[in-house]
Amino acid sequence: MVLWRGVIEEYRKFLPVSEQTPIVTLCEGNTPLLHATRLARKVCPQVELFLKVEGANPTGSFKDRGMTLAVSKALEKQAQAVMCASTGNTSASAAAYGSKAGLAVYVLVPAGKVALGKLAQAMMHGATVVQIEGNFDQALAIVKELCQEHDYELVNSLNPYRLEGQKTAAMEVCDQLGRAPALHVLPVGNAGNISAYWKGYREYWAAGQIVSLPRMMGFQAEGAAPIVRGYVIENPQTIATAIRIGNPASWKLAVQAVEESHGMIGTVTDEEILQAYRYLAQEEGVFCEPASAASVAGVIKLGRQGALPEGATVVCTLTGHGLKDPDTAVQTAAPPRTVKATREDVSALLTS
Ligand code: F0G
Repeated sequence: MVLWRGVIEEYRKFLPVSEQTPIVTLCEGNTPLLHATRLARKVCPQVELFLKVEGANPTGSFKDRGMTLAVSKALEKQAQAVMCASTGNTSASAAAYGSKAGLAVYVLVPAGKVALGKLAQAMMHGATVVQIEGNFDQALAIVKELCQEHDYELVNSLNPYRLEGQKTAAMEVCDQLGRAPALHVLPVGNAGNISAYWKGYREYWAAGQIVSLPRMMGFQAEGAAPIVRGYVIENPQTIATAIRIGNPASWKLAVQAVEESHGMIGTVTDEEILQAYRYLAQEEGVFCEPASAASVAGVIKLGRQGALPEGATVVCTLTGHGLKDPDTAVQTAAPPRTVKATREDVSALLTS
């Protein structure tokens, strides 16, 4: 058996690392690509649906692919600390990789708007967690200034190494499918990931690894859809807190990805997100966080509009693990019922 060595070693020739780069890895990548037959039968029988389960990464989200590279590079240049603003997952990943590298980690998050699991991760890995009385966009503005003033390495997706690492997910999808899909569907928040995937697909195509390119389809939450609206949203709102962003850092790159690939960016409502979130858990055995389900909600919406090409291969990226956000899960699913501790009472409940 050949053991997986993490995305830097596995995709080294596509990444900006040298012999001098100290590799900080938690063996991220190599995540499952699942054929979602039951879900497709229910919501989009006209296509072959696959799920790229990025919640299976070491800290439970796709951020680890970019963080391994960003933190390795920060260590190479002997930065004093790494710093980020986050809706939660970036901070969890930065905290984990920072601890593995022995670097100080500073994270800024919007107070009260970070899912519990993500906050627990950042705290447990020993990061300095600062909650601001404001949103992600305000946190990012502050972090950018502080990183300019100090020797802190910014590890948000403005850091080009983040996108370089994240592009490996597109390459993995091609390796797993044996080709590129026709459509690749993702949730869009700060807009880095859709840009990274497009870069990955283009580079794999240029290297002769694939002969076609997918259309990139992004979905924002209705109440946090600046790219779709065409203007900054001052006060973004959505149950999918991971993508509660009103002024995405990679706005231009995402628009470019969509234009070059003949794709699109659309919106889905919180209701549609929660429905897809339940379907994924109950039809496919995949528990993702609400923001991740925006991709599948988008596919369902496209199907309803008759916009899914017959027989097409569609890949949805499920960006983060469902356990990150236990509160939303418990509020969304049927509650457990409590009965007396007798065989009769349990049996009566099951047959009622
Ligand atoms: N899904 C999840 C679970 C996320 O955490 C994020 C972004 C996205 C989708 C959107 O990806 O920003 O590349 O468009 N989370 C960032 C964070 C903002 O701070 O963890 P994007």
